[in-house]
Amino acid sequence: MHMIVCVCRNINDKAVADAVDSGARRPRDVQAFHGCSFSCGMCKATIEEIIAQKTQTKQEEAFLLAAE
Ligand code: FES
Repeated sequence: MHMIVCVCRNINDKAVADAVDSGARRPRDVQAFHGCSFSCGMCKATIEEIIAQKTQTKQEEAFLLAAE
């Protein structure tokens, strides 16, 4: 069950994660990845949070790999 992040564009947390995996680093990139742009902008903060979470996890993974 996925959480809807953007109700205007029907983008859920997995869709945001997919976009980040493909290199999106700003909420605008995430919208562009899915072929849309912001409507109300309400989802911006949530998208930013998911990007931060995901990129942070990646950095930790890289750090752990480097430490091995
Ligand atoms: S909730 Fe994403 S643009 Fe409105």
